[in-house]
Amino acid sequence: MNRREFILSASAFSLASCVHAQKVASTDKRHDESLAVIVSDCHICGDKKWHANDEMVKTLNQILALDPLPAKMIVMGDIAALVGLKKDYIEAKKVFKPIVDAGIEISWMMGNHDRRDVFAEVFPEWAKSSEVEGSIVHVVKMPSVDLVLLDSLDQLKKKNNHDGKVSEAQIKWLEKFGASTKRPFFVCTHHDGRQMKKFAQTAIGTSKLMRGYVHGHRHSWMLDALHDWKDGGRLVRSVGMPSAALWGDIGFVTLRDKGDYAEFKIYERDCFFPSPDFKREESWDVLRKENDGAVVKVLYK
Ligand SMILES: [Fe+2]
Repeated sequence: MNRREFILSASAFSLASCVHAQKVASTDKRHDESLAVIVSDCHICGDKKWHANDEMVKTLNQILALDPLPAKMIVMGDIAALVGLKKDYIEAKKVFKPIVDAGIEISWMMGNHDRRDVFAEVFPEWAKSSEVEGSIVHVVKMPSVDLVLLDSLDQLKKKNNHDGKVSEAQIKWLEKFGASTKRPFFVCTHHDGRQMKKFAQTAIGTSKLMRGYVHGHRHSWMLDALHDWKDGGRLVRSVGMPSAALWGDIGFVTLRDKGDYAEFKIYERDCFFPSPDFKREESWDVLRKENDGAVVKVLYK
């Protein structure tokens, strides 16, 4: 989000009055272990009317309507509205409760609008189970591929920093992981690989089994190809997630593990900027229709 976007978001925020989000419906269906769902850039607000709260509920209800249900959900950062307030995380816990109740296992990631220490107060068990101390790092095991969830929040920088950085401690851990794993894996960060070019090159170089890069942050269904220049020309596909709720492409993405490749599919419900209350532009609907249902294959070798 650039400065203009931030100001527009903030003005939409200040116009709002105090109304609570709609309730997410509960459900009871079987789970598909080869299916995960990714939601990103939720931007949930804990104390005021904020369109993202209502949009988030709509996105989660769409997910709960899937049959079978995904066994896993990855929340790819920017859980909190703007600056990672405790009340944002408390509200997020409430909004996502029907997902937990439906037996879908949630993995949380950090984005630039999150604050690690505040998140850890509300989700202490998840923070404690991190693979790397001082960061929020986890490995999600699908039947044939691992999703390595890294933490690109650069919290030491200025207050509303939108850049991403993966710490040295995480890079060391990833190098060990890449050197020892026997399974294909995708690296997942909130920020995209073009924005963190040096890190993306390092990540690709950790192993030939590093086969894909998944990111949020851009609020856009974005397809890209990263290349390993050192090792005889290897291509790693990159897939960018829509926002679940705030602005841009709005929806979620399913990741289906097909044994020798992963199939990403976007469910794009809407497209708007900066909020659904602004006068609709025809281009929003054109973009939504083009994206909705699009499928991307990422091979494991
Ligand atoms: Fe972000």
